[in-house]
Amino acid sequence: LVQPVVLSGGSGTRLWPLSREKYPKQLLSLVGQDSLLQATVRRVTGTPGVSLTTPMVVCNEEYRFVIAEQLRLLGESGTVVLEPCGRNTAPALTLAALAASKGGADPVLLVMPADHVITNVAAFQDVVSRGAALADAGAVVTFGITPDAPETGYGYIQTGEPFGSADAAARSIARFVEKPDLTTAQSYLDAGNYLWNSGLFMMRASVWLSALGVCRADILAACQSAWEVGQTDGEFVRVGKELFAACPSDSIDYAVMERIAANTSSSTLPAGVVLPLNAGWSDVGAWDALWQVLPKDASGNVVQGDVLLQDCENTLALSEGRLVACVGVSDLVVVETADAILVSHKDKTQDVKKIVDQLKAQK
Ligand code: GDD
Ligand code: MG
Repeated sequence: LVQPVVLSGGSGTRLWPLSREKYPKQLLSLVGQDSLLQATVRRVTGTPGVSLTTPMVVCNEEYRFVIAEQLRLLGESGTVVLEPCGRNTAPALTLAALAASKGGADPVLLVMPADHVITNVAAFQDVVSRGAALADAGAVVTFGITPDAPETGYGYIQTGEPFGSADAAARSIARFVEKPDLTTAQSYLDAGNYLWNSGLFMMRASVWLSALGVCRADILAACQSAWEVGQTDGEFVRVGKELFAACPSDSIDYAVMERIAANTSSSTLPAGVVLPLNAGWSDVGAWDALWQVLPKDASGNVVQGDVLLQDCENTLALSEGRLVACVGVSDLVVVETADAILVSHKDKTQDVKKIVDQLKAQK
């Protein structure tokens, strides 16, 4: 039994001005009709060879109605676990694992970020069904992407020995390094035996809870006490507000993954395994990544909405209302919304976050 768990907590500041605090990027239809969150849920349905439960979304309580409505539009009756505040992904996954263990169940959790694009659904489903077998047997399964740049915003997985004989592509995790600095990332790229961590994980609920208990007993205890006073209210699951607020903040990667990889021979932590993922994965963190995944005209331009281009190349121009016209420019990002207009060089879109920081400082 596989329980899809969608983590929907980020605010996507680098996709400002479309992505806003009130309406973060995973709830927007950036690629196609579905929002990124809806696409995430839809992508797993019908995975051959696995039996899936209804999806579970973990999100801030502020987004409960939008998310419930987006699930409804998909025809899904899911569970929405509500966080009173953000404590990063380790506590979020822990609440999901506690919710999934209700009544003594112990499904394999398929942990998915709500804000990624995967273009090859068949390849994704294939690797998920193989991951399910490995996770069912007790491993923590990660999915590795072949890196093509020394990205410092990703986790790096050093691939080790073949992992058993059941899956020829599975490798044990020799080392997991979350967000290395640029020099280190470049050395991993040069070494050739590192993969990016895609942010997708599979493991049994009980395997996550006991690994967290070994690595961060404080986080486990805080989540458990918040969970115990929680309530189910239709599709919504609530936890104790003050108790959850007292939980330390940490990510799955720092709290557990770096330790699992370092301790493969230890009996207290589960084995870590990595499956290569070749499915057109992109974490669409910033506008340049969105340009990459969207359909382009013959000159490499992406246009959405009321846009006119003349002699432009490799430009992304998006209008929500007013007519946007660009002449003789290349490698630009132009985004028009009701109250803000972004013009950025396509190579600098990571720094859109700094504009959002400036805006916050003004408030
Ligand atoms: N519910 C909930 N609550 N979700 C959260 C929270 C939270 O407090 N914080 C983050 N999330 C969600 C985000 O919305 C996203 O979907 C996912 O969890 C991952 O969090 P990010 O904050 O986007 O992580 P990251 O991108 O810095 O790093 C992770 O993903 C990379 C790949 O994109 C790590 O797993 C890296 O190792 C990995 O390479
Ligand atoms: Mg991310």
